[in-house]
Amino acid sequence: MRRIHQQIAILDFGSQYTHLIARRLRNLGILAKLYPADINLNEIDNLIGIVLSGSPAGVGDDKYQVNENLFKLNIPILGLCYGHQLIAHYFGGRVAKHEDQSEYGLAKLNVGESILFNNLEPVEEIWMSHGDSVIETPEGFKVIGGTKSCPIAAMSSDEKKIYTLQFHPEVTHTPHGMEIIKNFAFHICKARKDWNIHDWQKEMIKEIKVTVKDRKVFLLVSGGVDSTVSFALLEKALGKDKVFGLHIDNGLMRKNEVTEVQRSLKIAGFTNLEVYDASNEFLDGLKEICEPEKKRQIIGNLFLDIQDKVASKLNLNPSEWILGQGTIYPDTIETGGTPNADIIKTHHNRVPRVEKLIKENKIIEPIKDLYKDEVRLLGENLGLPSKLVWRQPFPGPGLGVRVLCNNQKPSDVSKVTEKIKKSFPNFNLTVLSIKSVGVQGDMRTYAHPLAMEVNINELNQENVLEIFHVSPTLTNQFKEINRVILRIDNSNNKLSEAKLKEAYITKERLDLLREVDSLVQSEVLKLGLERDIWQFPVVLVPYGINSEESIILRPVSSQEAMTAKFYPLPVNILKDLAFKIAKIPGISFIFFDLTNKPPGTIEWE
Ligand code: XMP
Repeated sequence: MRRIHQQIAILDFGSQYTHLIARRLRNLGILAKLYPADINLNEIDNLIGIVLSGSPAGVGDDKYQVNENLFKLNIPILGLCYGHQLIAHYFGGRVAKHEDQSEYGLAKLNVGESILFNNLEPVEEIWMSHGDSVIETPEGFKVIGGTKSCPIAAMSSDEKKIYTLQFHPEVTHTPHGMEIIKNFAFHICKARKDWNIHDWQKEMIKEIKVTVKDRKVFLLVSGGVDSTVSFALLEKALGKDKVFGLHIDNGLMRKNEVTEVQRSLKIAGFTNLEVYDASNEFLDGLKEICEPEKKRQIIGNLFLDIQDKVASKLNLNPSEWILGQGTIYPDTIETGGTPNADIIKTHHNRVPRVEKLIKENKIIEPIKDLYKDEVRLLGENLGLPSKLVWRQPFPGPGLGVRVLCNNQKPSDVSKVTEKIKKSFPNFNLTVLSIKSVGVQGDMRTYAHPLAMEVNINELNQENVLEIFHVSPTLTNQFKEINRVILRIDNSNNKLSEAKLKEAYITKERLDLLREVDSLVQSEVLKLGLERDIWQFPVVLVPYGINSEESIILRPVSSQEAMTAKFYPLPVNILKDLAFKIAKIPGISFIFFDLTNKPPGTIEWE
C-alpha cells in the first residue's frame, strides 16, 4: 500500500479469535494487523489503537512479556478475554481460576455506563470462552458490565483510555459485538475509514505476480469454494496457460463427487485440469490409523506425495513450477498458525512438510488471509457461478475425518454418567465411550459425548426447546464431556447393550457413510435448507449393537467457521431423516449433535 493508513494493532496472545478482531475492523474500513505480544509499538506508523487478544494461557502462567512502552503510549487500548485479565493483573487487580463456573458459550451481560457501550440494550447476549476471571478491579478502573457468574465482565479507565472485556465482541455469537468494536474504533480511537477490500484484492494480484515470477502454478483443486476461487484468482493474475489444476481423488470423497467436480469446473470455464485416482494410496496409508491427528498428518502428506508423483509423470521441471493451495485463514489458525495458538487440528494443507515448502518459497496460497465469507465475495467478484461460490464447506481430509476409528479398550464412563445423572435427574443421559475433538478456552479437547434419550414419539417443537437449552449447561458444567447428542432413531435398540468396537477406515465403511451422507444431502436440497445450514457433516462412529454402527448428524450455522451454533432442525424433519436413514442396513443408533463451537468443533475429528 502506498498510502499510509491509520492502523489498529492487535497483539496476539494466541486466541482462536484473534484474526476475527482484525476481520471486523477491516470490514469497518480500518486497517488492522496482528503483531507478536512483545512488539515495540513505536515502530508502527499511524497507530491509533491497540487490541490485546485472548489466549489459551492464563495470566498466572507468566507466559507472555508485553513491551514496556505498551501502557505509556497514551493510545486507546481494548483488552479482550486474556487481554482483560492481563490488564487487571498488570495494574494490580486480582485474577483467579473459576473452576466450577467456567463459562463457555452464551451469557447475559448487564450493561453499564460507558462510551464503549453506546447504542447497546441494558442486557445483551454475549459469547464467553474462559476459565479464569478478574475478581478484583485495579485502582483507577471501574466495572462497566457483569454476568451472573462473572461480575467483572467489563471494566475501564477513561483517563488511561483503557477498556477491557472478559467476553468476545468479535464473534458473531455476540449479536451486538460489532457495536462495541465500532464504539472503540470510531468514538475512542477516532478512526476514519481509509481502507477497503478492493485495494487488498488489487494488491494480491500484484503480490501473486511478484511471488510466481516467470514460473507456473501447479494447484491442488478439490472442487470446493476455496481452491476454485484460488484457481480463478491465479488465472486472473497470471493468465490461463500459467495455472494447472490437479484434482486428486483420495477415495474419501462423497458419492459421485469426483464426476460432479469435473463437470462443474468445466462449466465454470476451467480447462487446465487433471484428475488423478489415488484412492488406493490413501486407503493403504490410512490402514489401522485411528488417532485423528495422525490421520490428518497422513492425508496431508499423501496429497504432497501424489502431487510430486503427477508432476514427475508429466515431466514438470521443478524450477519452472510453484505449488498452489487454496488454504484459507481458519486452516492456518487452527493448526496453530500464530506462535501462541494451541493446535486444535492440523489441517491437511498445513502439515510440517507444507510449512517447510512455504519457507522455501515453493508454495503459493493466495487466499490464506481470508475467511470463508470473504472468499465467497471474491469468488463473486471474479464471476464464478454462484452454485460453486455458495457450496457448503467440505474438509480437505474428506470423509477420512468423518469415519471414526478405534483400536482402544472402551474407557469406563459409568462414573461420569452417574455424576451427571445426579445433577440432571429429569433427563435420560448416558456418556458414550467414543471421543471427539473440541475446543474450549482456546485449547484442544478430546472427550466423550453425552447422549440424551427421549421418547421420540412424544418429541415436539415445544419440548425440544428445553433439550436444546440444557445442552450448553451440561458441557459447561462437566469437563469430561465436550458434546451433547440427542438420540433421534425410533428403534428398540438399547444403549446399554451397545459397544465400542475395533474399527478402521475401509472402503466398506466409507461406502456406508457415503450412502447416508448422500441421503442427507439430497433431503437438505429438497427442503431448500442448503444456504441456511452452513455445513452438514454426517459422522460414522464404531458404536452399536453387534456389528452395527451409529450415525451422528451435525448441521451447523456459522459465518467463518471459528464459532458455530448447532442448527436446530425442526423436529418433524429430524424424525423424517432418522426414519429414512434407519432403512439403510447396518445402523444401530442415529444422533443429532446439539453442541455449539466452542465447546465442540464443527467436524468430530
Ligand atoms: P472445525 O471442525 O475445526 O472446522 O470446527 C472448521 C472448518 O474447517 C473445515 N476443516 C478443514 N478444511 N482442511 C480443510 O480444508 C482440513 O484439514 C479441515 N479440517 C476441518 C471444517 O469442515 C469446517 O468447515
